[in-house]
Amino acid sequence: MKSLAIKTFEEYQERYAQSVADPSAFWGEIAETFQWEKSWDKVLEWNFQEPKVQWFKGGQLNITTNALDRHLEHNANKIAFYWEPNDPSTEARSYTYAQLHTAVCRFANALKVKGIKKGDRICIYMPMIPELAIAVLACARIGAVHSVVFAGFSANALADRIVDAEATMVITSDGLNRGAKSMALKEIVDEAITTCPSITNVIVYNCLGWECNMVSGRDSWWHDAIAHQPEHCTPELMDVEDPLFILYTSGSTGKPKGVVHTCGGYMVYTAYTFQNVYQYEADDIYWCTADIGWITGHSYIVYGPLLSGATSVLFEGIPTYPYAGRFWQIVEKYKVTQFLTAPTAIRSLMAHGTEHLKPYDLSSLKILGTVGEPINEEAWQWYYKEVGKEQCAIVDNWWQTETGGIMISGIGTLSPLKPTFAGYPLPGIQPVLLNQEGREIEEPNVEGYLCIKAPWPSILRTTYGDHERCRVTYFSHYDGYYFTGDGAKRDENGMYRIIGRIDDVINVSGHRFGTAEIENAINANEHVIESAVVGYPHPVKGQSIYAFVVGEELPEDELAARHSIVETVSKEIGKIAVPEKIMFVTGLPKTRSGKIMRRILRKVAEGETGSLGDTSTLLDPGIVDEIILKSNTI
Ligand code: PRX
Repeated sequence: MKSLAIKTFEEYQERYAQSVADPSAFWGEIAETFQWEKSWDKVLEWNFQEPKVQWFKGGQLNITTNALDRHLEHNANKIAFYWEPNDPSTEARSYTYAQLHTAVCRFANALKVKGIKKGDRICIYMPMIPELAIAVLACARIGAVHSVVFAGFSANALADRIVDAEATMVITSDGLNRGAKSMALKEIVDEAITTCPSITNVIVYNCLGWECNMVSGRDSWWHDAIAHQPEHCTPELMDVEDPLFILYTSGSTGKPKGVVHTCGGYMVYTAYTFQNVYQYEADDIYWCTADIGWITGHSYIVYGPLLSGATSVLFEGIPTYPYAGRFWQIVEKYKVTQFLTAPTAIRSLMAHGTEHLKPYDLSSLKILGTVGEPINEEAWQWYYKEVGKEQCAIVDNWWQTETGGIMISGIGTLSPLKPTFAGYPLPGIQPVLLNQEGREIEEPNVEGYLCIKAPWPSILRTTYGDHERCRVTYFSHYDGYYFTGDGAKRDENGMYRIIGRIDDVINVSGHRFGTAEIENAINANEHVIESAVVGYPHPVKGQSIYAFVVGEELPEDELAARHSIVETVSKEIGKIAVPEKIMFVTGLPKTRSGKIMRRILRKVAEGETGSLGDTSTLLDPGIVDEIILKSNTI
């Protein structure tokens, strides 16, 4: 397999220039390194007005042939995944490419026996175990569209996603252990599907040996389903633009959208970016600590590394369980060479202290990645000095669920390092900064709205079941541009620093939530009339959630009322979306036209009550005094 990696920074500059001058020639050459059943007729056709983007039009392939089968000739016995369990006393597992291929084929055959066909949607709700990756790949093998839901979302959130995708099957496990906590996943699935008439099958992996209520005719155990399945499964022939998966993500409206990625462009781009950003070499051991439930896990645990024939670590647990040195113990154990985690994990480990790093040999590390949210200078320096011992490159990967792959980032050890700057655009990516009027800002040292001017192979194609929503959300803000929702700064050398969201999206520990989504959840509480949610800076989580809540009257027992709201949000979305702070108020600061002035609430949440700006347009300025007074007690 030919490596797609650029070898010098000068080569990056040349390749970048080519990619902009002639995207079709550039991506056509890269796509040729993959296995296609039928080659494409045209590399690129696009417009951002509808929007309609087609890469490698006319091509046919199966992504799993590229991720698995093509490695069998030379690398059948190479490890694809080392699996490290949550509890270090549980036995670790590993899968070679040959074993993974067999496991995927057997499970794919099991899915077919259950009647699953190309195009069917399958919801996967599982712990971070190898079977999660196997389930994902088995869907891709037979052309079923996977929709992985992070196993931290509640039954209601799971049901919303199943209903939206009209999924016919859920793949889950009896339960999961994450750190010291556990969740009964099958029970959550059972609760969710009481409102999901489309579900006809549930497959349950026996992960923890728990008893489960198995509904006859609907539910089956994973081990029974694969028991007599053959070890080969002919890959389904997919059109290059057939959907590969749906992944739900939050935006500025109350309802998460199903971002749709397709087979060919996603394959080419995730492999290309993985090999370049992580400069993966044949004997390297790569570890991304994300969960496959998020896009980072899809692109940089499952597809990018497997398409590249890489060896990866798959970790079930959390950074600090059962001790704060767990990450570093795993790095030492597997001699990890490339390591990718989130700023929130770095900050949390930093807070535990450097002594937890000391017992471990981290000298195998070459490249340290960070992804999911802006990294602050202190965390960057700690990562660079304490983890990397000033010997490793830091690559700050900026991208989104919608972009499918990394867009702006350092390239391994090749790019110049600049703390808190994600860096330069990867080849094929044309970012621009726009001002409020939508004009491109050319000058150096400026800030603006980050937009992308031309398509790249893994751009989202639609939002499931509602193409208009895709157009309005991403392509209507500025005509002819993909709108990211992020603000960014560009320095005199053309390096980008991501400032953060400019829309109503809050990024908590790298997880995206829309303010409206959380408000809807809070409003589901029977005592709540309305609420407003804002994000505020948090030393470990990056941002945290602050909720201002109006009930029929102020609660007598605030502790109990707060508890009740926490319960409601946990039920509606999941514990991951619970507000850190809740203030009960008699009203919200609204303009005369009824619009909530979030600017004021944001200032209050940030503790800057002295600089609220003009409040004269408020319907009832007295509300602000009440909020300021209360803010000292929260
Ligand atoms: O605001 C940006 C932030 O996370 C958003 C995308 O979130 P999601 O779709 O969940 O994908 C996360 C993993 C790619 C972006 O709009 N973000 C992501 N990476 C970075 C970042 N902010 C700053 N620096 C990053 N490296």
